[in-house]
Amino acid sequence: MFSRTISSDVSVRLSLPQYADELYALTDANRAFLSRWLPWLDGIRCADDTREFIQRQLHRFADGEALHVTVFCCGRVAGVAGFNRIDAVNGIGYLGYWLAEEFNGRGIMTAVVADLVTVARESLGLQKVDIRCTTGNQRSRAIPERLGFSHEGTIRRAERVNGGWLDHEVYGLLLNDTEQAADGDAATGAG
Ligand SMILES: CC(C)(COP(=O)(O)OP(=O)(O)OC[C@H]1O[C@@H](n2cnc3c(N)ncnc32)[C@H](O)[C@@H]1OP(=O)(O)O)[C@@H](O)C(=O)NCCC(=O)NCCS
Repeated sequence: MFSRTISSDVSVRLSLPQYADELYALTDANRAFLSRWLPWLDGIRCADDTREFIQRQLHRFADGEALHVTVFCCGRVAGVAGFNRIDAVNGIGYLGYWLAEEFNGRGIMTAVVADLVTVARESLGLQKVDIRCTTGNQRSRAIPERLGFSHEGTIRRAERVNGGWLDHEVYGLLLNDTEQAADGDAATGAG
């Protein structure tokens, strides 16, 4: 089973159906906190909804389309993270995350995302990680900014949340020197 030790207190494990009850309870307790930025809360009304979501992600993991992990802190479920979409053709992983309010402010998610970047590079063989954050979501934006991602632009009206449109800030991190090599090829007329 896929799992990673992040620190003495924090680990991530491939999300499994047996985590659904605890993950749903955490989601439900953080509904108000999360729904400011995340659009899917209304679709999660019971533990079986969370279980079905996890099962879908497991199928997608088996097909190489996603990698969804549950974040544990001191043995308790603290949130989730992962590649919501893996574009295998272009070698790009689209990363998302949330952490229950009580676990905010300790550097947990920054460390988890840093580790998932390592997984993307070393295990998934990706060439780029993409993170999209709502423009006003400073806590979320701080994570790619702390980890050296480049701000690549703004997608206007990317998502409808709570009846209003939100813009997305796109952050990207290149995992190898492909871009440099491609530029070099273009400059020399090679390829
Ligand atoms: C986005 C979210 C995961 C950020 O959580 P977070 O706790 O701010 O992020 P981290 O776990 O990386 O912790 C960073 C905080 O811990 C502090 N910190 C303490 N030790 C740290 C360390 N070793 N390394 C980095 N930060 C550390 C940082 O200063 C920062 O606190 P500050 O914002 O008060 O300065 C969380 O707010 C969340 O889930 N929000 C709702 C859902 C959401 O927006 N998801 C993202 C959608 S794109």
